[in-house]
Amino acid sequence: MTGRVIIVTGANSGIGYETAKFLCNGGNEVILACRNEEKGKAAVGKILESNPNALASFMQLDLAELASVRKFVDDFHAGGRKLYALVNNAGVFLDKRSPRQFTKDNFELTLGTNHLGHFLLTNLLLGDLESTATEIGDARIVVLTSMLHDRNLKKKMRNITPFDIDDIFLAGEGKYSAENAYKNSKLANILFTYELAKQLQDRGVTANCICPGFIPSTNLSRNATASSRFFVRYILGGLFRFTKITQSLEQGARAVVEMVTDEKYKGVNGKYFKNHAEAQSSDESMDEELRVKLWELSARYCHLKGYEPLDAEIPPPAEKKEDPKDVSDTTEKVEEKADASDKAKTEEEKTEKEKDMEKDEKDEKTEKQEEEKKEEETVKAEEKSDIKENVEQTEVKKDDVTDEKGSEEKTTVADVEPVQTEAAK
Ligand SMILES: NC(=O)c1ccc[n+]([C@@H]2O[C@H](COP(=O)([O-])OP(=O)(O)OC[C@H]3O[C@@H](n4cnc5c(N)ncnc54)[C@H](OP(=O)(O)O)[C@@H]3O)[C@@H](O)[C@H]2O)c1
Repeated sequence: MTGRVIIVTGANSGIGYETAKFLCNGGNEVILACRNEEKGKAAVGKILESNPNALASFMQLDLAELASVRKFVDDFHAGGRKLYALVNNAGVFLDKRSPRQFTKDNFELTLGTNHLGHFLLTNLLLGDLESTATEIGDARIVVLTSMLHDRNLKKKMRNITPFDIDDIFLAGEGKYSAENAYKNSKLANILFTYELAKQLQDRGVTANCICPGFIPSTNLSRNATASSRFFVRYILGGLFRFTKITQSLEQGARAVVEMVTDEKYKGVNGKYFKNHAEAQSSDESMDEELRVKLWELSARYCHLKGYEPLDAEIPPPAEKKEDPKDVSDTTEKVEEKADASDKAKTEEEKTEKEKDMEKDEKDEKTEKQEEEKKEEETVKAEEKSDIKENVEQTEVKKDDVTDEKGSEEKTTVADVEPVQTEAAK
């Protein structure tokens, strides 16, 4: 298959970049839809460096702004290209200490980016996909979700609550946590895919979602503290390295690419895949009424034609609206504020939790140095080892880990996601 046009969102980094690269190598024409022009163009440049014949191009898309999504689609239409597939890959996972943040349209940032931005994008491109399907009998939508969508996997974590259709932006007292927002957004990805697939039946276009596995080498945990990132990459990454839970970037991206291009997925519609196989998604995701309600609400918030428009409430002043384009800056500000407030408090006033946080911050400097050293050693070690072979040999299934400690560990794996990315290096 060659020359088919495929849009990959968030393709400047991690799984998106790797997916775009492999799709280009397969002769497809790939549009890297990224929010940051510099990073997007750098990613295109890197693909062209390794494959001068690659049909890769950058287009600006900020999923945290509905106007940007609409502009992206207008720009795409102006190019007159036929669309074969859409890969909804981009995602944010804020640091657990981050306050609630918002998109340009006042949506809670994680749900707004991971679900609502993609909801609008997909709906605006459906006509393009349908005409391709009419012409060649195939057009695909692949949505990146996560096993973390499953509340039961994270039930031992703080602030993980059932998805509340009446409070999708987690505005209720004590409802918001970055983990809860991420879990909800990944659940929304699945609810959306299932409902979309139902609507697409017999229209030639298919929609499926995939959890690429735990991939510690992407940039998703960029907003976490240095100690958390160290923990994810070296402790958890190492711990699960020889299991099916941890996947290399290449393995994760190849699974996505297969879903986009492989003949065996032609006609497969409305499924959830994990570890390269069809899987059962969480109980929450099986709620058909919830799917319909979320669809309608999303359509209203995105001002989709045919639905009564609804605007999100302006965030309360206490929750200062940050620029979603620079989340890392926001996190730094949060840490600065935490430092200042820590100094102002006396030792006696500090809670156990605050003391732990302070210790964590003190350890950070040392850990940063250790991390750099360890990173060098790991890179060298990785070059010598055949990771793939080891993974295949061991094949420890996540579900085999049934004891209490094991389920704690699964929960923690889910809590985190990775650091450095090929394109970001
Ligand atoms: N890594 C894992 O273990 C794992 C596991 C399960 C599921 N996933 C899912 O896989 C997908 C890719 O994640 P990753 O691990 O590859 O992380 P990543 O390296 O951080 O890549 C995320 C991409 O999303 C982009 N993005 C973020 N906000 C955006 C916005 N408002 N508009 C447009 N693009 C935006 C980022 O752009 P910037 O570079 O500009 O920030 C980046 O290109 C996500 O949907 C994630 O939930 C990952």
